[in-house]
Order: sequence, then C-alpha cells, then structure tokens
Amino acid sequence: MEKKFMYVDDIAVELNGEKNVLEVIRKAGIDMPTLCYHPELSIYGACRMCVVEDDRGRIDASCSMEPRDGMEIRTNTARLLRHRRMILELLLAAHDCSCTTCAKSGNCRLQELAQRFGVRHIRFPNNKPRYKKDYTSYAVFRDPNKCILCGDCVRVCEELQGQGILNFAFRGSELQVMPAFDKKLGETKCVGCGQCAAVCTTGAITVNDQ
Ligand code: FES
Repeated sequence: MEKKFMYVDDIAVELNGEKNVLEVIRKAGIDMPTLCYHPELSIYGACRMCVVEDDRGRIDASCSMEPRDGMEIRTNTARLLRHRRMILELLLAAHDCSCTTCAKSGNCRLQELAQRFGVRHIRFPNNKPRYKKDYTSYAVFRDPNKCILCGDCVRVCEELQGQGILNFAFRGSELQVMPAFDKKLGETKCVGCGQCAAVCTTGAITVNDQ
C-alpha cells in the first residue's frame, strides 16, 4: 500500500492511523503545548494552545484536525506564538494566581506554559468573582478560582469513571465546572477515585492529603 505523509515544519511524517494532527506533530518529536487535550478522553478543542498554521495561513486547533495525506502545517510561527501568549494572558487574568501557596505549584500546566512562553505581564484586569472552595470531599479539594475550564475533570469523570459528578454550569463569563445543582462534592455520589485531581491542569482540583 502506498505510504501517506504530512509535513510538520517541513519534516515529512508518515501517517499511520493517528487520530488527529496533534498526534502527528508529537510523532515528529515536537513538544506541542496543550491544556485541554487528553489522549484517553474525547476531544474538547477549547483551549486553542495547540493551534497550527496551514499553507494558506489558516489557524486551527491541531487536536481537532484530521490528518490528511500531503497536508503541510507550521507549529511555531510568530503569529502562533502571539496567539498562545494571548491565550495564556487571558487565562491568567481570570485565574487565582496565588501560585506560591498552591499545592500544584511546580506541577501546574498553566504555570509551566506561562513560563515557557515568557508571559510575565498580564494586561487585563482580573474581574472574575471569587467562588467558594469545596473541602467537603474526603478525596479531593476543589478550588473553582483556579479552574481554567479545560473540562478534563468533567470528561474523565463521565467517560472513564462513568460517574458524571462534575459538569459545566452557567454561560459566558459565568461558566464554571461544578457538581449538579451547585452541590458540594461531599453531598454527591462521588466515589472519591481522584481521577479529576489526576487530570486537572491547574490547582483547581487537588488530592485531599489532610
Ligand atoms: Fe487543542 Fe486544547 S489542546 S484546543
């Protein structure tokens, strides 16, 4: 059978059933930044950190693109870098940045990407309301002020654990992840598996080690 290739930053990469362009990029050895992609979960395509530019200058999220034979993409143009920095700035502007006291500090994807892309100044005011933290679960702590809405916890709870305890609620700037009817985790049927904390990209859900 004839081999199929796509071109990532001029590197020819053979296609072997990769389910999206992001997987092909990673196969080429390129460390593509992502926040909402998890290989074992359905694709959400929300964070746009994984954007690439095609040969016609169109920008799209590589996790949501199907690889095609002959496709040519760039992963690291000046436009893409500006785009990623802007996304990080906006996320940080809506985030509780008390990183030094955060249990996830040093192991936080948002912090890691902000450092990697040199985001040291945030031009936007943080107007997000402060939400109450949830300490009611024996397994995990939930701090909605650190949530970046990547949805990994929602999908892991539903798709891998079959529980569906967490979901998105409200809309627009009020969008949040929470148990149904704004219940505390301790009031739900959460089994305390801790998968939500394991996939959380920030310190929004952390293991209760007290
Ligand atoms: Fe592709 Fe988030 S990783 S949009």
